[in-house]
Amino acid sequence: MKVLAIESTLDETAASVVESSGSGVGIVSSVVASSANLHVKYGGVVPEIAAREQLKLIIPVLMESIGEQEINEIDAVAAAFGPGMMGCLLIGVETAKALAWVWNKPLLKVNHIGAHLLANWIIDLRSQMSDVRLPEFPAVGLVASGGHTDFFLMENVNDWKWIGGTRDDAVGEAFDKAGRIFGLPYPAGPAIDKISKEVSDEEYKELNKEDKLPRPLIHDKTLDMSFSGLKAAVARAADNRSLIVDSRSKNIMIRDFSEAVTEVLVAKTKIALEKYKPKSLLLGGGVAANSKIREALKKLGEEFSIPFFVPELKYCGDNAAMIGAAAIMRPVEASFDDSPEPGMDVV
Ligand SMILES: Nc1ncnc2c1ncn2[C@@H]1O[C@H](COP(=O)(O)OP(=O)(O)OP(=O)(O)O)[C@@H](O)[C@H]1O
Ligand SMILES: [Mg+2]
Repeated sequence: MKVLAIESTLDETAASVVESSGSGVGIVSSVVASSANLHVKYGGVVPEIAAREQLKLIIPVLMESIGEQEINEIDAVAAAFGPGMMGCLLIGVETAKALAWVWNKPLLKVNHIGAHLLANWIIDLRSQMSDVRLPEFPAVGLVASGGHTDFFLMENVNDWKWIGGTRDDAVGEAFDKAGRIFGLPYPAGPAIDKISKEVSDEEYKELNKEDKLPRPLIHDKTLDMSFSGLKAAVARAADNRSLIVDSRSKNIMIRDFSEAVTEVLVAKTKIALEKYKPKSLLLGGGVAANSKIREALKKLGEEFSIPFFVPELKYCGDNAAMIGAAAIMRPVEASFDDSPEPGMDVV
């Protein structure tokens, strides 16, 4: 089965052609355009600008992703129906509807957050089937993105249960807000990741224990998380002139921010693994691109003797290949009068 998939939930406009391959999904093409640079000066996504950019980018992105492919080989058209911003969602959903109608193909409705985890079923079409490892169920999945930080118990590909998440800000939002205080451009996750790696262990040891940022809810035994207090703690640290005196001490605080987030995510994932005893651990979402978090959760999987899955970097942030993967793994047919759902639930 071949699917043309569209992603337009926020500031990325993406299209991809994917095909089922064994028990996984192979990527024929994946094109992503972004309006992120237009939002930099505002420190966050401006809905009106994002929606206008979707309109501008959608057709060129689609044309590039379809390329020379035969339309009659495409079996269905999929789009992310939510969650996301209405003005942005409308562009992708209406374009998918128009194509499905003109080509007389089924229209598939995909949840963007579920797709972040289903990106773990993307396989390299060039690899031998015997080399391909895919997640086994039951699995514990953690979505760590710009708008979500949620744990799911995935009994099988269709039956998922929400088992915990953040009470306030998403972890990606914390990266972006902390980054703004540190004077880094939006989205700040990649810069925080890079700077944290540049601070050596010796330099990091210079930070006194009492000056470290909090690790919110780290000793709480539930899967509740909270990241809004971290932002306030970063702001207090930035105001403390004896703590941040130059770029070196600022970078040490940036590394501490990465350590704090990673420690919390590891502690919470550990609780989930102890409680649910899954056969695999999955990570997805934009923050899954973070090198420290990838490394730490891989190690945690090893401690529990279960495999850890995380998408390739290009399939962590928003992309349409994951929408196609979700459409193949969990096909849900939509009708032409279905609307985008800005607050769409995963389960
Ligand atoms: N290397 C990285 N380390 C940490 N965070 C990162 C990294 N790369 C990207 N991010 C963060 O990922 C987030 C974007 O992820 P994503 O595109 O999945 O979010 P979104 O689609 O806006 O939200 P959602 O998926 O919840 O609707 C941003 O907050 C960005 O800072
Ligand atoms: Mg996303």
